[in-house]
Amino acid sequence: MAAVTALPVSLSARFKGSFAYFTVKDRLPQILTKAIDTLHRHKNEFFEEHGEKGVEAEKRAISFLSKLRNELQTDKPVTPLEDELPDAALWNQYLDYQRNLLNGNGEPSWFQSPWLFVECYMYRRIHAALAQNPPIGSFDVFKEGKAQNFFESQEAIIALCTYFQELLKNIKDLDEKQLQGELFKLLQVSLWGNKCDLSFSAGEKSSQKSSPLQCLEDMVPYIIVNDMEKLWSLLRNAKKRNTDKCTVRVDIILDNAGFELVSDLVLTDFLLSSKLADEVHFHGKSIPWYVSDTTKNDFNWTIKQLQSANHMWMSRCGINWEGNLKKGIWVYQDHMFWTLPHIYSSMAEVAPDLYADLQKSNLLLFKGDLNYRKLTGDRKWEYTVPFHQALNKFHPAPLCSLRTLKSDTQVGLKPGQGEQIQASEPEWMISGKYGVVQFDATP
Ligand code: F6P
Ligand code: MG
Repeated sequence: MAAVTALPVSLSARFKGSFAYFTVKDRLPQILTKAIDTLHRHKNEFFEEHGEKGVEAEKRAISFLSKLRNELQTDKPVTPLEDELPDAALWNQYLDYQRNLLNGNGEPSWFQSPWLFVECYMYRRIHAALAQNPPIGSFDVFKEGKAQNFFESQEAIIALCTYFQELLKNIKDLDEKQLQGELFKLLQVSLWGNKCDLSFSAGEKSSQKSSPLQCLEDMVPYIIVNDMEKLWSLLRNAKKRNTDKCTVRVDIILDNAGFELVSDLVLTDFLLSSKLADEVHFHGKSIPWYVSDTTKNDFNWTIKQLQSANHMWMSRCGINWEGNLKKGIWVYQDHMFWTLPHIYSSMAEVAPDLYADLQKSNLLLFKGDLNYRKLTGDRKWEYTVPFHQALNKFHPAPLCSLRTLKSDTQVGLKPGQGEQIQASEPEWMISGKYGVVQFDATP
C-alpha cells in the first residue's frame, strides 16, 4: 500500500498572533457590526416597503446577528444550523465531521476550529438571519458596499473599457506574439483586480483608483509564481486541437464584484474575441458571501450599469456582454457547493454534479484568495510543496489560480523564495501586494 503522508495542520485562530487569530478576533466582529448598522440604516425603507412587518423582521434579523457576534467573541461552540435552507443538512454533517476530529475533546468552537470553517459559517449564519426573516429575506447586507466599490472604481473601469474597445478594433490583425502580449496584460489586470476585496478591509473602501494598465510592468516582480506562458500554451493548443470540432470552454470561478468583476469580464471578452475560447462559464455565489463576492444579482447589476453608463466604451462593453449572455456563449451558473465550508478536494464526493460539469472545461480560472485557500486546503504548507500536491486530487480539468496573497498560506515557491521575501517584508502574505498566476495541468 502506498504510504499516506499526513497533511499539515489547518490554519486556525487557535494559533495566537496568526492572521486567522486576528481575523476571528477583530475583523469578523467588525463585519457583523457593519451588517447590523446596515440593517438599522434601512429601517425606514423596510417600513415603506413592508410596513410594520418589515420593521419587525429587521429587529429580529439584528438580534440574530448580535447573538452571532456574541457567540463568536466569547468562543462558544459552533451550533448546528436550525433553518431549513437546502444546504443546512450538508453544513450540519460538516459540523459533525469537525466534532469527530476532536475525538471527544470538547466541541468545535470559533477560536479552536479551522479558520476556513468558522469564517464560512459566519457568512452562512448572516444569510440565515435574513432568509429566516421574511419579508426582508432577500436583502443583501453587503450590496451597498459592492455598488460603492463599482462607482468608486469608475475611472479605472472607463480606462479599461476604453483600452479594450480600442484593442477590439484591430484584434484580427494581431500576430501571435501581440495576441499573447494582450492576453498577459488582461490576465494581470484581472490578477491585481483581486486587491479590491471588501472582506479583507472589513468592509472599508477598497476600490481601483488609478488606471489598471499603467503600472503592470512595475508589478511583474510581485508575481511570485508566474505561469502565464503555460496558460498561453494550453489555450493555443486547445484551439488547434479543436479547430472546427467542438468548442473550447473556459470556466471562471468568480470572486469579488466591483472592479475585479469588470476586469474578469474584459478578460473573458478578450478570450472570445481573440478566438482563444468559444464559450465561457461563470461561477458565482448563490448567497451573499465574504462581503464582496459576486452573486447573480451583482453580476446582472454590473452589466446593466455598464450598459446604461454615460460613457460610450463602457456602455458598448455592457451591450456586448448582455448579447453574449443572450447568445449563450457566456453562461452564468451558481452552485451551493461554492458557499459550503468544504475544500475543493472533497468536491467530487460532496458535489459530483459540479465536478462532472467542470470536467467538461478546457481551463478553470479560480479568482482570488478564498478560492486559493479552498484549492490548497487552507493549511500550514511548506512554501515549496508543489501546487499539484496541495490540490490533493482535485483535478477536474487544467486549472489556474489568479490570486493576490491575503492569507498566510502559499505553495509552489522555489527553495528560499518565501524566506527571502519574509526577511524584508514580514507582511508579504497578507498585504495583497504579491500575487500568483499558478497553473496545474496534470489530471
Ligand atoms: O483575510 C482576508 C480575507 O478576508 C480572507 O478571509 C479571505 O481569504 C480573503 O480575504 C477574501 O479574499 P478574496 O476576495 O480574494 O477571496
Ligand atoms: Mg472575495
